[in-house]
Amino acid sequence: MAELTVTGGRRLMGEITVQGAKNSALPLLAATFCIPAKCTLQNMPALSDVSATLSILRHLGCTARREGQSITIDATTPARYIIPESLMRELRSSIFLLGPLLARFGRAEIFAPGGCNIGARPIDLHLAAMKQMGATIRQTDEKIILRVPRGLHGADINLRFPSVGATENIIMAAAIARGTTQLHGAAREPEIVDLADFLNRCGAKISGAGKSDIVIEGVRRLHGCTYQVMPDRIIASSCLSAAALTGGEILLRGVNHAHLAPVLPAFRRMGCRVTAVNDALHLYAPRRLVPFGALVTAPYPGFPTDSQSAFLAMACTASGVSRIKETIFESRFHQAREFAKMGAHIAIRGSQAEIYGVPRLHGARVKAMDLRGGAALAVAALGAHGQTTVTCAELIDRGWEDIAGTLRRIGANIAPS
Ligand code: UD1
Repeated sequence: MAELTVTGGRRLMGEITVQGAKNSALPLLAATFCIPAKCTLQNMPALSDVSATLSILRHLGCTARREGQSITIDATTPARYIIPESLMRELRSSIFLLGPLLARFGRAEIFAPGGCNIGARPIDLHLAAMKQMGATIRQTDEKIILRVPRGLHGADINLRFPSVGATENIIMAAAIARGTTQLHGAAREPEIVDLADFLNRCGAKISGAGKSDIVIEGVRRLHGCTYQVMPDRIIASSCLSAAALTGGEILLRGVNHAHLAPVLPAFRRMGCRVTAVNDALHLYAPRRLVPFGALVTAPYPGFPTDSQSAFLAMACTASGVSRIKETIFESRFHQAREFAKMGAHIAIRGSQAEIYGVPRLHGARVKAMDLRGGAALAVAALGAHGQTTVTCAELIDRGWEDIAGTLRRIGANIAPS
């Protein structure tokens, strides 16, 4: 999808069932490379990042087959340990194959990963952990060549920052490494728990996922299983934002309430009534949102950086001033100047944004700068006067399965072009 056209002004109302989580689907796909058997992953969203990961797995010698929402991967006979530059650059999550490659092959050759341009996104924590587990690392200008002459072994690893990706790489590598790995300062995101649950279902011995200290006892061999990917908490939060911004009402099905705990208080501060109904969440928004005050992004269970752009969109037309401090990715606010084209009044000072709510935004031609920022522009456009065209909308396809179809289901006037 190259562009997305949105005509604002409709109050969104209705039900949405939330898709499977991108940020869980991608590491789970990588983890199948650790397993010399067939695995079936269910509730897999149809995303360009998922297709890109499947291309990498196929290149490495796996077979991968999609049937509806299920994907079956067979990594019984992996054939390659080099990920070509073109495939690495497709997405950030290509780095997730590093741990599995080293654990399965004892060698890996990779390039710097691609992905959304939201900050520097180094991979030093991933590399340092692999080194502690026995890898030698040689870097040329572009390529990173890793070898594990005597096989990966367990280690005591302290992460200086709870990186989600590094935690996942370490868990995957350690699951089939020799000995026990003690990981301290691990990321606590629900997607980490999903990964550990999947690997444990395949015979791994991982305890403590979801806490800062994780213990992984390496096993000789994992076996296949069928596993259902968790619901996408970021998409869930975006759908709530779309309804809230239009003064609407939504019933969101298939969510995990606990995963949304970091964002729900902010919706309530904006004047929304949010209630849990079994596995669904009901949101009823006021005619105009109240400012949420101040938000600071932080690792889970803090406020998620991936939901930040959608809250910025809501703040643009709230009845006063809102403040956001971004602590994870330094370039997230690059989307702000596109909101300004729609009439938003946002002042950026370094990692802080001050948003002065205006009564209404107007339609404009705006550019998606990254996946979450692009989706937030579409959300803002739903409440704007007139027509908005979001360009570079293919970035949204990285994480949203059919954003237009999903939002049309609750009354939005939105179409890909
Ligand atoms: C994952 C998510 C992404 C989310 C982010 C933070 C996936 C596929 N993506 O990204 O949507 O926004 O978590 O919740 O799950 N860092 C280093 N060195 C490293 C690795 C990370 O300094 O080796 C820094 C990063 O620059 C960033 C911070 O750590 O400032 C967080 O990054 P990380 O948690 O690793 O994010 P990702 O796994 O890339």
